[in-house]
Amino acid sequence: VIVKEIIDPAQKVYTIAHRGASGYAPENTMPAFELAREMDSDSIELDIHLTKDQIPVVIHDDTVNRTTNSKGYVKNMTLEQIKQLDAGSWFNKAYPMFAREIYAGTTIPTLDEVFETFGKDINYVLEIKESTPKINIEVLLNEYIKKYNLEKVVAIHSFSAASLRKFHSINPDIPLYQLVWNDYTAVRVTEAYLADVKSYAVGISPNFQGISASYVAQIKRAGLKVMPYTINYQLNMDKAYSWGVDGVYTNFPDRFHEVIETN
Ligand code: G3P
Ligand code: CA
Repeated sequence: VIVKEIIDPAQKVYTIAHRGASGYAPENTMPAFELAREMDSDSIELDIHLTKDQIPVVIHDDTVNRTTNSKGYVKNMTLEQIKQLDAGSWFNKAYPMFAREIYAGTTIPTLDEVFETFGKDINYVLEIKESTPKINIEVLLNEYIKKYNLEKVVAIHSFSAASLRKFHSINPDIPLYQLVWNDYTAVRVTEAYLADVKSYAVGISPNFQGISASYVAQIKRAGLKVMPYTINYQLNMDKAYSWGVDGVYTNFPDRFHEVIETN
């Protein structure tokens, strides 16, 4: 017997610009975040690493190799060294159809620059990429959020449950999302697992490739939000939307707006 899940539509479906509007501009740079805002994204997602001098900077990888003109680990470079790097020219070479002169020479932004520029104009999802007991990134990020008075517009996500639990104990008012990789744990979630996630997070952000309508329904029944990543094609956006997800991470925020408008 096939039991059709009852779809519970979300009240508001968030368009989250993944690493900014990173389909059109170099990921995790100010041009990508500006473009995300121009495209009326509800939120920007940004990956955080700490420099050698403990400054939060916005970059996905733990090295600068892929997205700049240099090589090395972020944690081994000072902010001054990081700021010498060109974080945009790689994009112009890789994606000539979206290349723009202003991208060349753009630098890796600090979290300060992003918060100073956008303030409360947009929502943020910060990803904690590396958490070690020695370097207390959770405490540091909470201080940044408070410094800019952004408690109402910042959410945090991470693949590390330990890091999220730690953040929750520091500031239980910031919404947290558990990232789930496509390792099929996503399709075999137990009620005990969901209850545990609910003790520190408000939702789960699963890899879209590992989920289905019934998965979304199960998470929502448990009282958790579901925001899958990273959905770049309209067909998959349509699917996710019809399953009642609460938000979608995408490199192309304009495409997801079209999906919302036509549904
Ligand atoms: O939005 C979720 C996503 O950011 C997690 O994966 O590798 O893009 O940081 P990644
Ligand atoms: Ca991320």
